[in-house]
Amino acid sequence: MKTKYWIWIGAVLAAGAAAAAAWVIQPAIAPIQPPAANDFDSAAIARGARVVAQGDCMVCHTAAAGAPYAGGLPLRTPFGTIYTTNITPDPATGIGNWSLSAFTRALRHGVSRDGHLLYPAFPYIHYTRMSTVDIEDAYAYLMTRTPVVATAPDNDLLLPLRFRPMLAGWNLLYLRPGPVADNPAQTAEWNRGRYLVDGAGHCASCHSTLGPIGGERSPAFSGGNIDGWDAPALTALLQAPKPWTREQLALYLRHGWSPEHGAAAGPMGPVAHSLSLVPEADSNAIATYIMSLQTPARPAPAATAAATDKTAVVQGATLFAGACASCHGAAAPMMANGGRPSLALSTAVNSERPDNLIQIVLNGVPWSHPDQHTFMPPFAASLTDAQIASIAAYVRADIGKRAAWNDVEQRTAKIRKENQQ
Ligand code: HEC
Ligand code: HEC
Ligand code: HEC
Repeated sequence: MKTKYWIWIGAVLAAGAAAAAAWVIQPAIAPIQPPAANDFDSAAIARGARVVAQGDCMVCHTAAAGAPYAGGLPLRTPFGTIYTTNITPDPATGIGNWSLSAFTRALRHGVSRDGHLLYPAFPYIHYTRMSTVDIEDAYAYLMTRTPVVATAPDNDLLLPLRFRPMLAGWNLLYLRPGPVADNPAQTAEWNRGRYLVDGAGHCASCHSTLGPIGGERSPAFSGGNIDGWDAPALTALLQAPKPWTREQLALYLRHGWSPEHGAAAGPMGPVAHSLSLVPEADSNAIATYIMSLQTPARPAPAATAAATDKTAVVQGATLFAGACASCHGAAAPMMANGGRPSLALSTAVNSERPDNLIQIVLNGVPWSHPDQHTFMPPFAASLTDAQIASIAAYVRADIGKRAAWNDVEQRTAKIRKENQQ
C-alpha cells in the first residue's frame, strides 16, 4: 500500500508543479483590527449559529475537554496526524484579525489568511459550496465567540506532505470552487437538501470511499471509513432490514435515534447532535435529498464468509445473557417498554464488516445527544477480545441470522489498539 501512496504523491507533485503555479502562490490578506461584537447584526449572529451547526465546525475545532472552537483536536489520517486550529476571535492565535474576505477564502479555497494552503482534512471542498450569505453569517457568529488563547500542536505528517505548496496539485484534482446552481427540475426542498448535504453538512467526507491521496471517490455516498468506524453507504437505505423512509431518516438526523434503526453512534453521534440545532425544515430537506439517491439492490456478493463457529456462538449466548440481555433481550424493559429496535435491525449487525459492532461494544453509546435518551456503557475494560468475538458470533448468527464474520478477534484487538492511540 505504501508504495502506491508514493507513486500518487509523486504524480500529484508533478501535476501540482506543472499546472498550479497560480495556486501555490497565494497572497496574504492584510490583518484587520478585531471587529467589536456590536459590529455584527444580531440576526446574522443567530443565523450563523445554525450555519456553524450545519457545518459541525465545533466538533472538529474543539479538543477533548478544550474550550469551544479553540482547536487542538488531533485528526488521524493515513498520512499522519493533523491538529485543528483555533477559530475563536483571539487576534494572536485565532482568527480575530481575519477579515471576512480572508475567512471566505479559507472556506472556498482552503487558503489561510497568511496565504499558506490548508490540508483537506478541513473539508473546504464541501464548504466551498456554501452561499455568500451563509459564510457571512458563520463569520458573524464565530467572531462574536469568546476569544481563547490557544495554539495547536505541530502536525505529525509524512515528510513530503509537510510541504504545503504541494496541496495545489490536490486542489487541482478535487476542488471545484464556488456554489452550484439549483437544479430547476427538482423541488426547492430537494435543492435545499443537496445544498446542505454537499456543502456545510459535508456528509460525503465520511460516507464516501477515499482514494489513495484522500480524495473522495465516485460514486459519492457509497460508504466510507472514519476513525476506525464504517460510515455506511447512504445510497442503500432501502436495502436495510426495514427500508428507511424519509420520515425515519429526518427523525434519525434530528434526534440521533430512530425507533426502526437505532442510534447514531461513534462519529455520527456529534453530527446528529449538531443537526438537532438546525431548523426541522433543514433535516427534512436533507432526508428528501438523501432518499432521492437510493440505488436498486445489488445482488449479494458471493459468500466468502467463514463457517459459523458453533462453540463461539454458544459462549457468546452466555456472555450476551450476562452483559447485554438486561437491555437488549426481548423481555428487557428497554425493549418491551422503551420501543427500542431489535439488534436484528441494526446496520452494525447486518453490515459486511464487524467493525461498528466491535466499536459499539468497546465504546458504548455515550450520552452525546440532547434528546436521544440512550446510553450504553462501554465494555472495553470488562470484555476481552475473545469474549467480544464470541458475542459478535452469537449476535450475528442468532439475532442477525447472517453468515459469520471473519477474524473478529483480530479485528477487535486492532481496533482496540487504534482507539488507544
Ligand atoms: C472534519 C474536521 C473539520 C471541520 C468539520 C471543520 N474544520 Fe476547520 N479546519 C480543520 C483542520 C484540520 C484545519 C487546519 C488545516 C491546516 O492546518 O492545514 C482547519 C482550519 C480551519 C480554518 C483556517 C484557520 C487558520 O488559522 O488557518 C478556518 C477558518 C476553519 N477551519 C473554519 C472552519 C469552519 C467555519 C467550519 C465549519 C463550517 C470548520 N472549520 C469545520 C478541520 C475541520
Ligand atoms: C444499559 C443498557 C445496555 C447494555 C447493557 C448494552 N446495551 Fe447495546 N445499546 C443500548 C442502547 C441504549 C443503545 C442505543 C439505542 C438503541 O439502539 O436502542 C444500544 C445500541 C447497541 C447497538 C447498536 C444498535 C443500533 O443502534 O444500531 C449494538 C450493536 C449493541 N447495542 C450491542 C450491545 C451488546 C453486544 C451488548 C453487550 C456486550 C450491549 N449492547 C449492552 C443499551 C445497552
Ligand atoms: C464525521 C463523519 C460523518 C459525517 C460528517 C456524517 N456521517 Fe453519517 N455516519 C457516520 C458513521 C461513522 C456512521 C455509522 C455509525 C452509526 O451507524 O451509528 C454514520 C451513520 C449514518 C446513518 C445511519 C446509516 C445506517 O445504515 O444505519 C445515516 C442515515 C447517516 N449517517 C447520514 C448522514 C448524513 C445525512 C450526513 C450529513 C448531514 C452524515 N451522515 C454525516 C459518519 C459521519
